[in-house]
Amino acid sequence: MKAVVYDRYGSPDVLHVEDVPVPTPAADQVRIKVAATSVNLSDWECLRGSPAYARIGGLRSPATRTLGSDIAGVVDDVGEGVTRFRPGDEVYGDNLALKGGFAEYALAPESALGRKPAQLTFAEASTIPQAGAIARQGTERTVAGSRVLINGAGGGSGCFAIQLAKRLGAHVTGVDNAAKQDFMRALGADDVIDYRRDDFTRTSQPYDLILDLVAHRSVFAYRRALAPGGRYRCAGGSARTLLRVLIVGSVTGRVTGRSIGVLVVKAGPAHFEPLADLCVTEEVSIHVDRTFTLDEVPVALAQVGEGRALGKVVVAPS
Ligand SMILES: NC(=O)c1ccc[n+]([C@@H]2O[C@H](COP(=O)([O-])OP(=O)(O)OC[C@H]3O[C@@H](n4cnc5c(N)ncnc54)[C@H](OP(=O)(O)O)[C@@H]3O)[C@@H](O)[C@H]2O)c1
Repeated sequence: MKAVVYDRYGSPDVLHVEDVPVPTPAADQVRIKVAATSVNLSDWECLRGSPAYARIGGLRSPATRTLGSDIAGVVDDVGEGVTRFRPGDEVYGDNLALKGGFAEYALAPESALGRKPAQLTFAEASTIPQAGAIARQGTERTVAGSRVLINGAGGGSGCFAIQLAKRLGAHVTGVDNAAKQDFMRALGADDVIDYRRDDFTRTSQPYDLILDLVAHRSVFAYRRALAPGGRYRCAGGSARTLLRVLIVGSVTGRVTGRSIGVLVVKAGPAHFEPLADLCVTEEVSIHVDRTFTLDEVPVALAQVGEGRALGKVVVAPS
């Protein structure tokens, strides 16, 4: 089968298409004939080996040769002990532990997968698992009438997070680069901020909830941007910032009556299927910026990593 592989961290140039054996499912795994895999910022981070947390499991060279975790496709074979799926079932899920979605076939643990809703295409379904879980968990404490800010709101998780926070009745501010301002407004953002021009932490009207997908500032800046009783959660960003938020954030938050911490996202169908239900009923919309072939995976990854994608980018192997 064809798979996009890499053996060292680097730019998209280190990726190439190779003929590799079709993998055999182990116990509790299914093999999926991949129809679509969406690109996440985590793929870009694992390609570059940066931030440092992207090297967990592979300090000097990548732990897995093929990237791609948000997979949608058809079950083609099952390992011993698999009970929920059989060949022919249409599935989707976040395969963050094994990855392998930028290939014609991929293995995934049964527990990572849900049944694809018939109303969604494979490309649409592949956009939901990782970004949807981040967006849901990042906005779940939203209260009607509260002020919510999403930093990095024009990307994959942000475009779901804006819509979810709006549904819960919040006043939503989206922060991203100038080219994504209209896109964020179209998704429902009440206010938008161009992060290259303005610093959201220097606001006169602080926020009740901040979901930060690209954290780079000091804990004290985040504290300043929060209203009393407010909550800041970062899902991604520089390793140094995440570490500071973990160590200094909880203390700073507690002594100032705010909650500052890292969002550790729970994965699995229970965490993304509720969002898929909202997509099926068209209460939340899916934005696929562009679909690429396997040969084009380096371009697809660069489009996300270099910040040119509006919403999600998808790779369709066949
Ligand atoms: N915590 C967990 O358990 C967990 C699990 C999975 C993934 N993650 C992480 O969660 C994050 C999810 O990101 P995603 O997939 O939604 O990323 P994405 O699709 O790449 O979106 C990120 C957006 O942020 C923008 N951006 C870049 N720098 C910015 C800045 N300084 N200020 C404001 N916006 C900025 C980007 O645009 P430009 O670059 O064009 O400006 C882009 O539109 C990733 O970091 C991923 O590693 C966390």
